Amino acid sequence: MTGGAGYIGSHAVLALKQAGYEVVILDNLVYGHRDLVEKVLQVELVIGDISDRSLLDQLFTTYEFAAVMHFSAYAYVGESVTDPAKYYRNNVVGTLTLLEAMVAASIQKFVFSSTCATYGVPEIIPIPETHPQHPINPYGATKLMVERILADFDVAYNLKSVQFRYFNAAGADPSGLLGEDHHPETHLIPLVLLTALGKRENISIFGTDYPTPDGTCIRDYIHVSDLADAHVLGLEYLLADGDSEIFNLGNGNGFSVREVIAAAEDVTGLSIPVKECDRRPGDPPMLIGTSQKAINTLGWQPRYPGIKDIVAHAWQWHQQRHK
Ligand SMILES: NC(=O)c1ccc[n+]([C@@H]2O[C@H](COP(=O)([O-])OP(=O)(O)OC[C@H]3O[C@@H](n4cnc5c(N)ncnc54)[C@H](O)[C@@H]3O)[C@@H](O)[C@H]2O)c1
Repeated sequence: MTGGAGYIGSHAVLALKQAGYEVVILDNLVYGHRDLVEKVLQVELVIGDISDRSLLDQLFTTYEFAAVMHFSAYAYVGESVTDPAKYYRNNVVGTLTLLEAMVAASIQKFVFSSTCATYGVPEIIPIPETHPQHPINPYGATKLMVERILADFDVAYNLKSVQFRYFNAAGADPSGLLGEDHHPETHLIPLVLLTALGKRENISIFGTDYPTPDGTCIRDYIHVSDLADAHVLGLEYLLADGDSEIFNLGNGNGFSVREVIAAAEDVTGLSIPVKECDRRPGDPPMLIGTSQKAINTLGWQPRYPGIKDIVAHAWQWHQQRHK
């Protein structure tokens, strides 16, 4: 697994271990957390880069991998606009190197972290997998390029992939041992909770005049443990000789920025200061996906669709991380 020392990857490692799989992580630790891998996950960690072809060749001859799950990428939308080269190099060229090494080693099953950012501005809500893809930032474009590469690699090299387009990953493992620890942090729920902990002065609300019931943006928050479950099911689908498929992973419910803040005040029992700001360019008012295809095809069922559970699990993690 690449990127297994990061947020979503670490939760997938836990789910895979619980399902009885052996996992080897390849992570360059640019954003990953070695302590979590060593103390909590306790699986083998190879520190290295997906663009290091000789390392990949060595790994693929040392182990007999049944499949590769690929979480590693850069994922800061704003930075992808100011430094697109960094994103195309890591997310596209790096992934291409990984895929070429897989083909050379005859590893033909691949689970890929794509994103709802490949859709761009939604034309219909909820967004189905068949929705047109017109990403509005380089980050989304890099993920769409990999989707195209995977379609071509299937035809040419019989490399079968499950591609998951995540909506907003959120929450933490209910044990409180794993959670979201991005530096810098840009995601709403951790920012709100860091404000509750007094680590930030206030939480900015970008736009209060959107055409939504309370005027703030609505997003589809999917619990990270539900994402992890889907990865186990996606892997099993491929191991059972399933064809390449693309699935949205969201919880089908949208929550507004104000609803998230209210849930956080409820969970923490604290009042969270907000700062109302102008809209940010490129933020659609509403992003909600339908994940019916993953439910029907993979038998996936999100366990924690409510915003209160998502925030409560994240809070448990943040409290122990910052004590
Ligand atoms: N967090 C979300 O809401 C979200 C939504 C949609 C898609 N995604 C995608 O899911 C994946 C995981 O996201 P995350 O939030 O866990 O991010 P993360 O930054 O926590 O994890 C990514 C991991 O990849 C590692 N990494 C990056 N480049 C690498 C390289 N060249 N070689 C080896 N390791 C490398 C980092 O050290 C990190 O541990 C990413 O591909 C991201 O684009 C995330």
